Amino acid sequence: MTTIFITGGAGFIASAFVRLLLAEQPDVRIVNYDALTYAGNLENLTGVDEVRHVFVKGDICDRTSVTSAVPENCEAIFNFAAESHVDRSILSADEFLRTNVIGTQVLLDAARAKGVRRFVQISTDEVMGSLPDNSGLFFSEDSPLRPNSPYAASKAAAEFVVRAARETHGVDAVITRCGNNYGPRQFPEKLIPLMIANAMNDQPLPVYGDGRNVRDWIHVDDHCRAIWLAYEKGAPGEAYNIGARNERENIDVVRSILNALGKPESLIKYVEDRLGHDRRYAIDPSKAETELGWTPRITWEAGLASTIDWYRENQTWVEHIRSGDYRAYYDRMYGARLNASGSNPA
Ligand code: NAD
Ligand code: TYD
Repeated sequence: MTTIFITGGAGFIASAFVRLLLAEQPDVRIVNYDALTYAGNLENLTGVDEVRHVFVKGDICDRTSVTSAVPENCEAIFNFAAESHVDRSILSADEFLRTNVIGTQVLLDAARAKGVRRFVQISTDEVMGSLPDNSGLFFSEDSPLRPNSPYAASKAAAEFVVRAARETHGVDAVITRCGNNYGPRQFPEKLIPLMIANAMNDQPLPVYGDGRNVRDWIHVDDHCRAIWLAYEKGAPGEAYNIGARNERENIDVVRSILNALGKPESLIKYVEDRLGHDRRYAIDPSKAETELGWTPRITWEAGLASTIDWYRENQTWVEHIRSGDYRAYYDRMYGARLNASGSNPA
């Protein structure tokens, strides 16, 4: 058996990673370490094997707790745990720097102390900043790190502490930088689940600015397969950009969701833009394709349809979130925006 330690496994992407590995890697045993912040949800792990998967509640910034939780003979640490939402980082950046930067350093130290063979840092394309509209430019592994939001800055800083651990202490580390994920169990603060949840409840769909910002969307399971291949085949010290060549304007994504749910476009409400809103993300995934042998399997059309179906069939999951602290967050983020009398540009 290969034992791995993953962090943030009660969140969206890492819970999908757990499910994928348990289904496709029969020799893998997982220790899943998560602080259960607002985004961590044990319901995301419902039905998961309890023999090959062990859940441990803990904070990645807590050195003592991390060191005792990383098992002996641990083959790899996959660091997914993070504060992950740009809008929250605009409201307050402290927790982003604490978890995303200090937490990564604590995990790197634990990897050394425990003789862990490889460290996989789950990063994001957002560390590379924003690309101009219609420029034909793409993010490559050589693009400079030019983060624009506090979230992106904290993830870029995390990449630098990973690099420093490698250069200084010889830690074997690889970094993955993926674009925007979608799929089941994504917290409804992010664009796609927020719009699905609001549309299902006949509530306004708040589109920032002119709605023409571009994101490069990928199904979470395709991202998770790439992370596993980066662990298996990635060269030490290398970064891999992960993307499905699937750029979409936000407004088109929102319209597709309304269409699929049979809801009217009159639910769309253009609202005040996000501060420092990155215009376009677009990834060139050639290196991952060539060096890792990775290609995405899930088309946008099939992936979006199955994601919408999941939210339709799991309304209790959504309602558990929407009935908790989420309400206060939503009011703070959208109350004034939705009450402002904006004009719809489209
Ligand atoms: P998420 O917000 O859904 O989940 C984050 C998880 O981390 C939660 O379970 C939370 O409880 C846990 N966590 C937070 N702080 C912690 C701490 N101090 N100690 C231990 N656990 C803690 O995030 P996600 O969307 O699943 O993203 C996972 C990772 O992937 C993040 O590192 C993010 O930067 C990266 N990423 C996300 C996307 C995306 O589109 N969502 C794209 C590229 C990269
Ligand atoms: P988001 O899902 O927060 O991901 P990120 O900012 O990390 O790319 O947002 C995706 C895009 O959708 C981004 O351009 C901001 C926009 N957006 C809205 O227009 N309205 C919303 O309510 C949210 C949450 C996002």
